[in-house]
Amino acid sequence: MGVTKNFFIALSKNQPLNSAAKKWGLKLGAGKVVAGTDIASMMQSVKELNADGISATIDSLGEFVHTKEEATKAKEAILETLEAIQVYGVNAHMSVKLTQIGLDVDFDFCLKNIQEIVAAAFHYDIFINLDMEDYAHLQQTLDILEALRKEYENVGTVIQAYLYRSEKDVETLKDVRLRLVKGAYKESAEVSFQEKHEVDENYLKLIKIHLKSPGFTSIATHDHHIIEKVKAFVKEENIPLNRFEFQMLYGFRSEMQKDLAKEGYAFTTYVPFGQDWYAYYMRRLAERPQNINLMLRSMISK
Ligand code: FDA
Repeated sequence: MGVTKNFFIALSKNQPLNSAAKKWGLKLGAGKVVAGTDIASMMQSVKELNADGISATIDSLGEFVHTKEEATKAKEAILETLEAIQVYGVNAHMSVKLTQIGLDVDFDFCLKNIQEIVAAAFHYDIFINLDMEDYAHLQQTLDILEALRKEYENVGTVIQAYLYRSEKDVETLKDVRLRLVKGAYKESAEVSFQEKHEVDENYLKLIKIHLKSPGFTSIATHDHHIIEKVKAFVKEENIPLNRFEFQMLYGFRSEMQKDLAKEGYAFTTYVPFGQDWYAYYMRRLAERPQNINLMLRSMISK
């Protein structure tokens, strides 16, 4: 892992800076990759995506949740966003991080919160994706998914190709709607592939397994090499276009997002919004240090 990546991961974990950033509004170029700090501005971006034939998965940003009060506040913000999806009539679902609604506070409390969210979403016919966080939270996330799926079908999760265990997880979750990603956190060699080519190989393998399973597949990557290979595979295997979609993050490769939608592929953009933009933005800079250009340009133009 490069020095730059470690540097931005460390910044993303800096709570005082995170708290300070909430008061700044979107700064340092974050406005390119975060769709506003409130529901109205985020919905404007979602409407623009919808006009290009692109759906959205909305993330009401929230980080560093340590108390039940903070988790309850985050849950209320998510419920408010769900209602707004209905009111604005946009084509969108939501992505939720379980730590945001209390996973580190108390497992049962978090389960109750997500049950409330999934029940509200079910009522509106909206899908909820449980984002996957670091390895320390993986088993608990899968346990919560299992509990939710006893009652609801409008919920799925993310599987990270850098983890050795993921092939087994994809097999177990063959009926579930899954977002497949390479993986964004720093994990040890004990549990994860360390070489990029190993992650890429495993990623393609997982995608092929899930595309041939009953569960819907969301292929979330900006990697055009992978996208081209997926396109060839679905053609060869006659996999219908309504069995999968591509996903990318808001503000990344926007022209390619539109082109894929125009080509007839289902496409969903991950749309983060809210005052808690700082850690999300630092993780994106860690993933792709070229994005530092964004930050530098915005600082110079001030
Ligand atoms: P990678 O970063 O490996 O890039 C591969 C190649 O693609 C690059 O070498 C370059 O050629 C090209 N490329 C990539 N980005 C480009 C750009 N912006 N412009 C031009 N070329 C570019 N992770 C996680 O752990 N849990 C989660 O829940 C999620 N959720 C999630 C949702 C969505 C919608 C996405 C897109 C991603 C996630 N991730 C995630 C993050 C994911 O795990 C991963 O860290 C990033 O997507 C980066 O990996 P990529 O597959 O995009 O390509």
